[in-house]
Amino acid sequence: MQNLFTLSNRLALCAGYVRDKVKVADIGTDHAYLPVWLCLTGKAVSAVAADINPEPLSRGAFTIEKYNASKFVGTRLSDGLKNIKEDEADDIIIAGMGGELIARIIDQWPFSKNPQKRFILQPMTKCEELLKYLCENGFKITAQDTCKEGKKLYTVMQVCYTGEKTVPGDDFLYLGILTPETNENHREYAQLVLSRLEKQRRGNKSLEAAAEIIRKRCENHGK
Ligand SMILES: C[S@@+](CC[C@H](N)C(=O)[O-])C[C@H]1O[C@@H](n2cnc3c(N)ncnc32)[C@H](O)[C@@H]1O
Repeated sequence: MQNLFTLSNRLALCAGYVRDKVKVADIGTDHAYLPVWLCLTGKAVSAVAADINPEPLSRGAFTIEKYNASKFVGTRLSDGLKNIKEDEADDIIIAGMGGELIARIIDQWPFSKNPQKRFILQPMTKCEELLKYLCENGFKITAQDTCKEGKKLYTVMQVCYTGEKTVPGDDFLYLGILTPETNENHREYAQLVLSRLEKQRRGNKSLEAAAEIIRKRCENHGK
């Protein structure tokens, strides 16, 4: 077997939110690095590496073969979670996609509202669409953090269904449960969000409100 590779910061943050000894589904797996790494390090007991497109899935199959992981990791052509059975995944990773698509994938799976499941979500864009969906549909963020890769900043959250629907504040839609007041990395992420909002907000009351709250929260650090 080849020596096991090191995960990027972004994928390592996702891996950190996977519970021990669970079955994993990695939706939109592409290269299948996460499921292979999780199984070969013993963190996951099995994994489905799923993708909607055959080409990325064949990249995933290559990684599985290269690292001799086929005993633990299988590939699956699947639009979102549509071809994943309930008992095949305890923890579901959906990383590297837009927030709207992630929300749609969760919404279309009949087993998403099983409170035993955990979703590990890493939206590339439209985080606010994802957080709005989660709040309005009874999902709760149980943990969230940020990471940096080169100059890029990412956020990853662990989410589960509780059934309690909430009305998100303007800032929550952009930051979730990050704490820019006390965490320097979260503050850096919040400042990036703020600079984006500054560009888009003109004439949009809710964006202006969100920008205002986020600015104040960033200024409040250490106080
Ligand atoms: C940018 S890659 C992300 C790869 C990996 N998850 C990561 O974070 O590094 C996005 C992948 O999602 C797949 N994808 C897009 N829409 C999908 C869907 N509805 N269901 C499953 N996979 C999808 C694409 O084919 C692509 O391989």
